[in-house]
Amino acid sequence: MTTRSSDIEKAAGVLRAGGLVALPTETVYGLGANVEDPAAVARVFQVKGRPPSHPLIVHIGSADDLGDWVEDVPATARVLAERFWPGPLTLVLRRGPRVPLEATGGLETVAVRVPDHPVALALLSSFGGGVAAPSANRFGSVSPTTANHVRAELGDAVDFVLDGGSCEVGVESTIVDATGETPSVLRPGGVTREELEAVLGRPLAVHSTSRVRVPGQHPSHYAPRARVVLVEPEKVVAEAELAQELGHQVGVFLPPAFAGTAVKAHAVVEVPGSMAAYARGLYGFLRRLDERGCDLIVASLPVEQGLGLAIANRLRRAAGPRPTE
Ligand code: TXA
Ligand code: MG
Repeated sequence: MTTRSSDIEKAAGVLRAGGLVALPTETVYGLGANVEDPAAVARVFQVKGRPPSHPLIVHIGSADDLGDWVEDVPATARVLAERFWPGPLTLVLRRGPRVPLEATGGLETVAVRVPDHPVALALLSSFGGGVAAPSANRFGSVSPTTANHVRAELGDAVDFVLDGGSCEVGVESTIVDATGETPSVLRPGGVTREELEAVLGRPLAVHSTSRVRVPGQHPSHYAPRARVVLVEPEKVVAEAELAQELGHQVGVFLPPAFAGTAVKAHAVVEVPGSMAAYARGLYGFLRRLDERGCDLIVASLPVEQGLGLAIANRLRRAAGPRPTE
């Protein structure tokens, strides 16, 4: 995948003019705006249909610039930034004056990361400032991992879509609250808990609910149109066939242990055995089953280790109660 430098220049120009750019990152595509332009940031919330109290992540081009955006950089945050940036780790720190409250949903903290994608880094370098970017999907739905997903979901609401191919990691960044002495995980993601603990040399708390507003922690987030039902791996085939018999159009996430099993259902996705491949494919699988017209998806949770922790977190949110229920 090659992106022309003229596209990078055009995207940087759109950001400078207060427009919105969809940009590839290693995790998912972001819907980017100049973080220092409150009107552009307001448009991000409007296009996503996201309540203005839900804070955005500020993307920057280098760990060396972190001090420009936050009040102070505690030693632990410095260690994590040096080890994991560029990469799928977001650090929550005290907000510096350059970050308007519009971007943080009124919070005195700000979430910052350096994405590990050549196109995103080229854009950040050409633009020179910070880019506030939530995932480029409507509030509550599945994050996009290709430029086509973004176009299909947001269409003309975005001024420019930078195509950087399929996202390598496939699930969002890990969010770590690094404001205090003891860092904690607010959202599991592309950097694993085990990798963080190895660097910190101690166990890390993972909060399933958080004091701060983390929309990813609400019920029914990362959700396809189809209802998602989670069962034990050995019950997936039987549950799927029963629901299909009862008249549902069933999509199946067939666990790796059952690969090759013929399932009497509407559509089947064979879940990859490698957690990296599963994470990379997850949102595309959910979208595919929606496109096939499934109204019910039967899946099971992977073992919650490594990337399995983030995958299980997203599947639980996808299966959470819908606003209408
Ligand atoms: O991988 C990612 O993180 C992607 C790519 C585009 O970078 N972005 C992403 O953004 O997932 P979004 O807006 O979909 O999720 C950002 C999460 C939200 O759950 C938000 O509440 C949390 O970050 N967040 C942002 N600022 C925060 C803060 N100051 N304190 C706690 N959580 C914060
Ligand atoms: Mg999101």
